[in-house]
Amino acid sequence: MFDDLTLQGALTMRPQVAPFFDSATSTFTYVVHAGDGTPAAIIDSVLDFDPKSGRTSTASAERVVAFVREHDLQVQWLLETHAHADHLSAAHYLKRELGGKIAIGEQIRTVQRVFKGIFNFGEEMPADGRQFDHLFAPDEVFMVGELTARALHVPGHTPADIAYQIEDAVFVGDTLFMPDVGSARCDFPGGDAHTLYRSVQKLLALPPQTRLFMCHDYPTVSRSVTCETTVDEQRRTNIHLHEGVSEEAFVEMRTARDRTLAMPVLILPAVQVNIRAGEMPAPESNGVRYLKIPLNAF
Ligand SMILES: [Fe+2]
Repeated sequence: MFDDLTLQGALTMRPQVAPFFDSATSTFTYVVHAGDGTPAAIIDSVLDFDPKSGRTSTASAERVVAFVREHDLQVQWLLETHAHADHLSAAHYLKRELGGKIAIGEQIRTVQRVFKGIFNFGEEMPADGRQFDHLFAPDEVFMVGELTARALHVPGHTPADIAYQIEDAVFVGDTLFMPDVGSARCDFPGGDAHTLYRSVQKLLALPPQTRLFMCHDYPTVSRSVTCETTVDEQRRTNIHLHEGVSEEAFVEMRTARDRTLAMPVLILPAVQVNIRAGEMPAPESNGVRYLKIPLNAF
């Protein structure tokens, strides 16, 4: 009887999820843990960057650091759902402040190879994933303290996207958005709308009450910014991918829509920092670090 109850408890673990919203890039960072004093994972952190001045700031990251310290959490993982194109990752900074392993999907090597070509990086930027402490194989299982987690490979937006399933909570990355916003774009290098459709079917096959946490929110009507929904709600009401939408219909819609979208403001600085796990390029002889702008490449 005791064993049954213990097992039941294990099956219904509900991690605590603290969201932090960066309004400049509409990005959610999450701290996931099992209570004060326990191990934690930080998902998709943000390093502030002002493209006008080229100045970085850790103001957003400091809010996360303060939360972690206040709740006496031990950071085990700094998880990236993918190499983001809309914000710079603070993973490198947070690792220095709080510890933890920086991890991403193993297909990041493909993304590194593509952008290494676009930016014409040399040997200082190996495309073998070594900048990260851990590369997840598809569906690899790992632990966050007592919490069981799984790295679900959900390519489409990029080839390397991972959705992190931690007990009953899934951090979907750039796949689904809130039901009234729909889905992530698929027109970046290596993106593919067919692939995204199939990845989303994998998420929608999870139990209906699974909590889904968004990577971004871009409300188009007057509602407040929201980070959480469920598999059931997405199946019923997602405007792009509700039950019954065929792969062909989705691909047609997604492709047409992507043609109308401008590049994200921070894509050029973000990608070259994020494929380095949030580390800046090495300083030049005058001690200043530089980012590159490829002309007419996008
Ligand atoms: Fe993204």
